[in-house]
Amino acid sequence: MKIGIGNDHIALDMKKQITEYLESKGYEIINYGTDSYERFDYPISGEAVAGAVVSGEVDCGILICGTGVGISISANKVNGIRACVCSEPYSARLSKLHNNTNILAFGSRVIGIELAKMIVDEWLAAEFEGGRHQKRIDMVKEIEEKQKNIMGGFYIS
Ligand code: RB5
Repeated sequence: MKIGIGNDHIALDMKKQITEYLESKGYEIINYGTDSYERFDYPISGEAVAGAVVSGEVDCGILICGTGVGISISANKVNGIRACVCSEPYSARLSKLHNNTNILAFGSRVIGIELAKMIVDEWLAAEFEGGRHQKRIDMVKEIEEKQKNIMGGFYIS
């Protein structure tokens, strides 16, 4: 499985640790984040990983910034992305079972590396349950479709 990873300057160390951890488990990791401690704007890597996921360049994505918030908001602006910030494994697992998330985000200032690994493991192991949850995902998709009809500042539903 190919995983796209992205980060800002705050999350550089955690990005490296998660990359090493996943590579040791046999995953292929493609890096879309910064490798510098210089200030780096999180929307850049949020959008890059999101684009790689929707184009099929990678199977899914992992995004890390200080809180996981800014970078996941950025990714969620890309059509087809369902990214969520998780600070514990339960939400990570359920986000896959029920919401079929294709990007997992977390914050390097919020959780430690061992919890981050546990969250990643739980998320990667979980599988979308489909069924009644598919209908709701389709409804989310419809919201995206409606957004495409916004013209000249007017919302056409
Ligand atoms: C960077 O200072 C910080 O705002 C960023 O890492 C993240 O927490 C944003 O959501």
